[in-house]
Amino acid sequence: MTVPLTIAIDGPAAAGKGTLAKRVASHYQLPYLDTGLLYRAVGRQVAKAGVDPDDAEAAGAVARDLDVGHLTDPTLRGHEAGELASRIAVHAPVREALVRFQRTFAASPEGAVLDGRDIGTVICPNARVKIFVTASAEVRARRRTDELVSHGRTDIDYARILAEVKSRDARDAGRTMAPLKPAEDAHLLDTSELDIASAFRAACAIVDRVLADPDRH
Ligand code: CDP
Ligand code: CDP
Repeated sequence: MTVPLTIAIDGPAAAGKGTLAKRVASHYQLPYLDTGLLYRAVGRQVAKAGVDPDDAEAAGAVARDLDVGHLTDPTLRGHEAGELASRIAVHAPVREALVRFQRTFAASPEGAVLDGRDIGTVICPNARVKIFVTASAEVRARRRTDELVSHGRTDIDYARILAEVKSRDARDAGRTMAPLKPAEDAHLLDTSELDIASAFRAACAIVDRVLADPDRH
């Protein structure tokens, strides 16, 4: 019986997790889940329902009612939805409501690739491969700015994006519940100086080493 290949990819905003995770999933022919979308969808629903995003219990109720099978709205990936997601993601009832769906997804027989903040630490602590993707805040803000400008946004200012990236980092890493931090057995991948193709090659080298020698991590 083949051992499922579960790959956890975590890291801060705009580190390149999603781009990398998607490519890795396609390369190893594994299903892929962008877990940030779950938090983004809860944030969006909280706003729509007029719920106070700082009310843990009310936000938790929204998360429990979330239709996790339909996260296709492209605006969910937008910059503003990320900010709201990180506000509701601090609440224990919200995180607890989303655990089961993520673990069920990760338990698919061939394995899976999941990216987020707490995949290697909380959702899949036994993942065969854990990669923590980082890049300096300045590089990440530059990438996000370029991305938004390339999507036609004309109201984007690098200094503001940098401030937002830093405040999201502080909130994600400073929360009590499932804070952003590398798992002890995660491989660190700093993409500050790597383009997408080089980051992908580096990630595959990590996965291939684990596959070649399962006793070693
Ligand atoms: O998922 P996460 O927020 O970590 O980042 P992403 O959405 O995958 O990437 C943010 C932006 O950085 C995208 O426009 C990527 O094309 C770009 N980028 C990258 O992902 N990886 C690099 N090594 C360089 C740039
Ligand atoms: O792509 P980017 O890194 O900007 O954002 P994302 O991965 O879509 O996550 C949006 C927000 O959701 C993050 O800032 C986190 O606060 C939260 N999140 C989380 O707490 N745990 C996860 N597994 C994924 C996202």
